[in-house]
Amino acid sequence: MYKLIRKILFLLDPELAHNFVLFCASKINILYPLLKKSFRFKERNEEFILNNCRFKNRLGLAAGMDKDGIAILFWELIGFSHLEIGTITPKPQKGNPKPRLYRLVKEGGLLNRMGFNNSGADKVKSNIQKARKKLRNSNFVLGVNIGKNKDTPLEKAVEDYIICFEKLFDVADYFTINISSPNTEGLRNLQNEVYLSELLYAIQAKNKELSVKKNTMPKEVFIKISPDLSKNEVNKVFEISRKHAITGIIATNTSTNHKYSFPLLKNSETQQGIFKGGISGKPLKEMSNNILSLLNDLRKSSEYKPVLIASGGVFTKKDFKEKITLGASLVQVYTGFVYEGPSIIKKLLHKE
Ligand SMILES: Cc1cc2nc3c(=O)[nH]c(=O)nc-3n(C[C@H](O)[C@H](O)[C@H](O)COP(=O)(O)O)c2cc1C
Repeated sequence: MYKLIRKILFLLDPELAHNFVLFCASKINILYPLLKKSFRFKERNEEFILNNCRFKNRLGLAAGMDKDGIAILFWELIGFSHLEIGTITPKPQKGNPKPRLYRLVKEGGLLNRMGFNNSGADKVKSNIQKARKKLRNSNFVLGVNIGKNKDTPLEKAVEDYIICFEKLFDVADYFTINISSPNTEGLRNLQNEVYLSELLYAIQAKNKELSVKKNTMPKEVFIKISPDLSKNEVNKVFEISRKHAITGIIATNTSTNHKYSFPLLKNSETQQGIFKGGISGKPLKEMSNNILSLLNDLRKSSEYKPVLIASGGVFTKKDFKEKITLGASLVQVYTGFVYEGPSIIKKLLHKE
């Protein structure tokens, strides 16, 4: 069935198709209470408990699919354990000029340079609050992935992250600090030692301050890193995360290393570097597994045991299991969902 739907969707411009699907998914909100009663989703995978976050299975929807959190109830209904909303910035912004999303159909990938198009922290907060009223006691975990506005200089980036953190503190189960999107100029520099230390210090200080003030537990904080980091850079990120007691590391975001995926990318324009942006899906899998594996080795030889969350190129049960074997406690999908549709959830979670 999805094969037919995909055929039609793939006739449309990729971003138009994306917005159309999201719009339809958001309309489920009205029918949610009814659907929830008749649609009992069987838990097909073991749950994962991380302090206050109870993940009903190991699979979530990665950041970028539902940036503003307009279809939260739909993602819960079809069986994901969690949704990562965002990337959110303090002010709304339009993102990069279009076209900015491409399908690499032969390669099973996507290439995007969206540039954090989102409705801003206030609007997203209100979207989450509305959904939470209907979700009630459901253990659907909502993470918020945060970043900086395009026009905020790097030296002031920390302020943007803090604004988002503070505004969304009451409605997020966990936060992801996005320092790895290739589509906001300079953002990846935040993975450098000095910037990252300053950023994580400020976030955790705010986390402590708000949790004391509101008499709640501090939020879980994850960082999302790039697949294009060297081994040395991964070591440094790990060490800084340890210093600031970061709960988890997401490996990875999209890659700009088009040369690496050269043999997989048959699209001549991509090979010539005409397309700028981040690659996701199948061409990303190996790169992102390498980073996951490095993190897992570091974790084995350290007292510090961050939760590892895998993202990059998951299409099949084998891909999913590989991520778990490499130390991931949670797995997130994006491109696999675009190509396989909602049935990918059942496929990845069913017990053999
Ligand atoms: C169109 C598109 C938009 C994305 N937007 C974001 C984003 O805003 N923030 C983020 O952290 N990751 C973003 N990502 C990266 C995904 O969350 C994911 O980490 C990456 O695509 C690798 O997973 P995949 O191979 O399953 O797609 C985006 C990916 C795509 C394809």
